[in-house]
Amino acid sequence: MSGNAKLEIRDLTMLYKTGDGVRNINLAVEQGELVTLLGPSGCGKTTILRTIGGFLQAASGQILISGKDITHMLPEKRPTAMVFQSYNLWPHMTVYENMAFGLKLRKVPKSEQKRRIAEMLEMIKMSGYEKKYPGQMSGGQQQRIAIGRSLLLQPDVLLLDEPFSALDAKIRSQMREELRKIQTDLNITVVFVTHDQEEAMALSDRIVVMNKGSFEQVGPPQEIYNRPASRYVADFIGEMNFIPMPDGSIKAVRPENVSVSPGTGGNLDGYVRTIMMLGHYIEMTVDTDCGIVKLFVSAEEAEQYKRGNPVALTLGESHRYNDDQSAAG
Ligand SMILES: Nc1ncnc2c1ncn2[C@@H]1O[C@H](COP(=O)(O)OP(=O)(O)OP(=O)(O)O)[C@@H](O)[C@H]1O
Ligand SMILES: [Mg+2]
Repeated sequence: MSGNAKLEIRDLTMLYKTGDGVRNINLAVEQGELVTLLGPSGCGKTTILRTIGGFLQAASGQILISGKDITHMLPEKRPTAMVFQSYNLWPHMTVYENMAFGLKLRKVPKSEQKRRIAEMLEMIKMSGYEKKYPGQMSGGQQQRIAIGRSLLLQPDVLLLDEPFSALDAKIRSQMREELRKIQTDLNITVVFVTHDQEEAMALSDRIVVMNKGSFEQVGPPQEIYNRPASRYVADFIGEMNFIPMPDGSIKAVRPENVSVSPGTGGNLDGYVRTIMMLGHYIEMTVDTDCGIVKLFVSAEEAEQYKRGNPVALTLGESHRYNDDQSAAG
């Protein structure tokens, strides 16, 4: 593992009394990198984040930031800041008071507090909200302030636990873009948690796909999408057809890598089952002897097909997995 990582997690295990938790986690995050922990509910994302932040104690393993071992340090002594899914702000304090709180504790002079808060409010597009209370703002605005407040502390590593999950789709994608811009402008190191694969794809330098307390695959979004290391990853990221092969293995093909023509004589033949208009493209499903296969066609192309027509499918780029869920190459 690289010696100059900003955050390094070495063989970390953190178990609750119930036996749930995370096991043998290894991860190195570079300065300025945004790494996302992605996985279904209960896979251990928050557990890892809280252990990095010091709110949970590791059973074994080490956490290093800038080469320094922080595994047993108190949360408030760690060079980290964490933003939770919701309820981040103190409801009885104004925006300004919320933002100044951490700076006061650090004995930053008043005039500098004022300057830094004004700069941060500008950066997160919340200038003019100084005197508002959290209850007078939308969920998205509150999360903006929460992120701004954590950035003011200039943490070495920023920990974000599903900060946008309570927001509606449009605001969420807008906040995602703003966060990415600020994060790259300031060159901040971030560990981001989400169970939303689209959010992870859009935002991350690298994605960690998690499964039941351990890591299934770590890599840049394109690599995870184009070369999923296991059937689990292939299933979790994007859409995928799983076609059983005569030798017992499974062929995985993305809908965009399946093409269709009328008649028979393809890699796989079948009958049109559904044709569904989805904006500028059309989703078609085809009934075959190997199950239902999904693919995309243009509106123009779709005109020649009707429900029940015989069609021939050509399978493009694909992956093979064994039934035991590991990659067969
Ligand atoms: N305080 C706790 N005591 C016992 N078990 C816990 C505790 N907190 C979490 N767990 C269990 O540990 C596992 C991991 O939980 P964790 O909260 O890390 O999941 P998560 O990936 O963040 O899920 P979500 O997407 O729902 O937030 C789950 O099985 C969960 O039930
Ligand atoms: Mg969680």
